[in-house]
Amino acid sequence: MQADLVVVANRLPVDRVTLGDGSRGWRTSPGGLVTAIEPVLRVNDGVWIGWTGGTDTDLEPFEHDGFHLVPMSLSEEEIEDYYEGFSNGTLWPLYHDLVAKPEFHREWWDSYQRVNRRFAEKAAQVAAEGATVWVHDYQLQLVPAYLRELRPDLKIGFYLHIPFPPGELFQQLPWRRQIIEGLLGADLVGFQLAGGAANFIRLVRQRVGHKTHKDLVYLPDGRTVRAAPYPISIDAAGLEQLAQTPAVEERAKEIRESLGNPRKIFLGVDRLDYTKGIFARLRAFSEVMADGHFDVEDAVFVQVAVPSREQVEHYRMLRDEIERLVGRINGDYGRIGQPAIHYLHSSYPREEMAALYRVADIMVVTPYRDGMNLVAKEYVACRFEDDGALVLSEFAGAAEELRQAWLVNPYDLNGMKAALLAAYQAQPKELSRRMRAMRRTIKQHDVAAWAASFMTELADVPGNHTKRLRPVRQSHPSR
Ligand code: F6P
Repeated sequence: MQADLVVVANRLPVDRVTLGDGSRGWRTSPGGLVTAIEPVLRVNDGVWIGWTGGTDTDLEPFEHDGFHLVPMSLSEEEIEDYYEGFSNGTLWPLYHDLVAKPEFHREWWDSYQRVNRRFAEKAAQVAAEGATVWVHDYQLQLVPAYLRELRPDLKIGFYLHIPFPPGELFQQLPWRRQIIEGLLGADLVGFQLAGGAANFIRLVRQRVGHKTHKDLVYLPDGRTVRAAPYPISIDAAGLEQLAQTPAVEERAKEIRESLGNPRKIFLGVDRLDYTKGIFARLRAFSEVMADGHFDVEDAVFVQVAVPSREQVEHYRMLRDEIERLVGRINGDYGRIGQPAIHYLHSSYPREEMAALYRVADIMVVTPYRDGMNLVAKEYVACRFEDDGALVLSEFAGAAEELRQAWLVNPYDLNGMKAALLAAYQAQPKELSRRMRAMRRTIKQHDVAAWAASFMTELADVPGNHTKRLRPVRQSHPSR
């Protein structure tokens, strides 16, 4: 089939599952990207190209839940080199402020190029004449340029879901020039924040020598590329509706009781990732307890840690460290049947998450660096009674919008302790003043508005420019 809209992402919006009768099937994954893109895709009868998460090679395009899906397979070696290696061992830490040390391996880079080329070839096959192709995230930054080479007739958009780092960090990458040129294959390159877009434009000018003006790049072949911020969001109304259902209300009550009806419940919900600051936040919580401000009768911490990238060494080490810390805190401050930290290494369906958000008096989101952090927005969406407190890292993209949260520097342990205590002690009037303002923000800027503005501006990117350009500085191809 040939489609007028093609979404290209590392993963398909479905997970492989074993059904009740033992056969293998698919289940729509609960991720934010799926909710964001689903409406646009349905209206346009579009297709989604992505990896299945496995190594199966014999998969044909299929339909699931009304989606047209085109599965891509990765070999064992590509999973190691392209996915775990270059995407998550090089780019992920490099783009997240070097929270861990990025590794640079030439065979990872080779694999990244090969897989990106295959995704681009697939997109070129399934896109109709003049179609729009929307490429997503750091795993696929070379796809726009490869695809443009194959299909100059297409409108190509690219959206980066994670931060785009300042030049000082990005320039460590031995293949920095190729990545920038890969992205410049798109007509519109979208970032979470204005800072990321500005970092990119500056690099384009300084590193590749193209002429830029504000958010536009003028290429020597006459094309214009726009680079601009589009802060991603959530389906705020849908989540609020779910949070208001009697089933979720009932489940929230059950959870509070199972936790021993403490006065306050703290909650953390994250992929188990070293960028998320889980260790430091639990330590801060335990120190507030050690200082005597509350005990397990007063407050407990529920930490949901969603398993992630478990084959990558950094992630395995992090899991061990966190689990050791949880054991120590519970040993020091727990009582029989009353642990201080309730640690859950698992993922949960939307209904259970909504119940957790409903039951949490204080939501703690403390990443060292995060593109946006949709958990913070989801919590706010579920607090329809204008109560509850959000403690939020200044280094999460969401902090630019949710200014009324208790903003913290996750590297400052005492500052975090003070914020946790302030949120714990805050009076209902203050809580509702802050929450009302944050709820107004997320209602105005929901995910439908995000997708619509990206698609509209992609359609509107100016075509060929008539600027007279000086020749581009020629240098070593990897500079
Ligand atoms: O937000 C970044 C991201 O890599 C997304 O692209 C992805 O949906 C999510 O994190 C989970 O990561 P992974 O696909 O590596 O499990």
